Amino acid sequence: MTRKVEKARVVVVTGGTRGIGAAISATMHSFGYKVAATYMGNDKAAETFKENSGIDAVYKFDVGDYDACAAGLALIEKKLGSVDILVNNAGITRDSFLHKMTQQQWREVISTNLDSVFNMSRLVVEGMRERGFGRIISISSINGLSGAMGQTNYSAAKAGIIGFSKSLALEVAAKGVTVNVIAPGYIETDMVRAIAPEILEKIVAKIPVKKLGNVQGIARLVAFLADEQNGFTTGATFNINGGQYLA
Ligand code: CAA
Repeated sequence: MTRKVEKARVVVVTGGTRGIGAAISATMHSFGYKVAATYMGNDKAAETFKENSGIDAVYKFDVGDYDACAAGLALIEKKLGSVDILVNNAGITRDSFLHKMTQQQWREVISTNLDSVFNMSRLVVEGMRERGFGRIISISSINGLSGAMGQTNYSAAKAGIIGFSKSLALEVAAKGVTVNVIAPGYIETDMVRAIAPEILEKIVAKIPVKKLGNVQGIARLVAFLADEQNGFTTGATFNINGGQYLA
């Protein structure tokens, strides 16, 4: 499935230079969209991403900070035009059992994984409504649905994205804007590779397909949901998890 889209709409992918986000950025770019990728921490990875993907619209700002998002989006819109498609992908983990979790671990995860979805969506949704077209696609997680040991913060944020998206989908349905969620399972990324091997082994043993997922599967679904022809899919959550959790 590689085809060029008819209209080169503008896509912003948060956390778009590494992992699932980088695959989304590259796939959308290959389909002919104008892609801006944001990132926060890893300058070196962002440089490598720029070189490998040919995407030079790469912006560094904290998606958990509303004013930083406003400033970043202003730069993106100046360079590429109004944002038609927003992919809320940025996410971090600060895993800890609750009885050991600090307020900082809680707040960092809620800020990057959930406040970001409000910040970015709030800043683009008015324009989408006015123009009568928009796609907001947010990356949740299997662990927002099933829960996971050590992830009260992460699961709360990822479940929050689903409720947020259902409500927003209803608000904008009549305006040509769709709002959907993808809930990946355990995908081969730096985030999952950071899990201690003995714990990851236990996790993989519980995945019916007996392996980790790949980033391409997520990116292809984003492209499907972003498609101009696909205005009837909204308020939905798509599970891509190797059969690990059937919701
Ligand atoms: N499945 C099964 N057992 C688990 C487990 C899991 N997911 N997480 C922890 N345990 C077990 C440990 O194996 C250990 O068992 P034993 O006592 O029998 O040895 C016990 O729980 C206590 O664990 P730790 O000794 O590791 O305790 P800790 O306080 O040092 O650390 C922890 C706790 C931070 C939760 C750590 O265990 C951990 O990082 N677990 C993995 C958490 C996880 O799954 N994160 C997912 C990251 S990927 C992601 O989030 C992407 C996505 O969307 C899917």
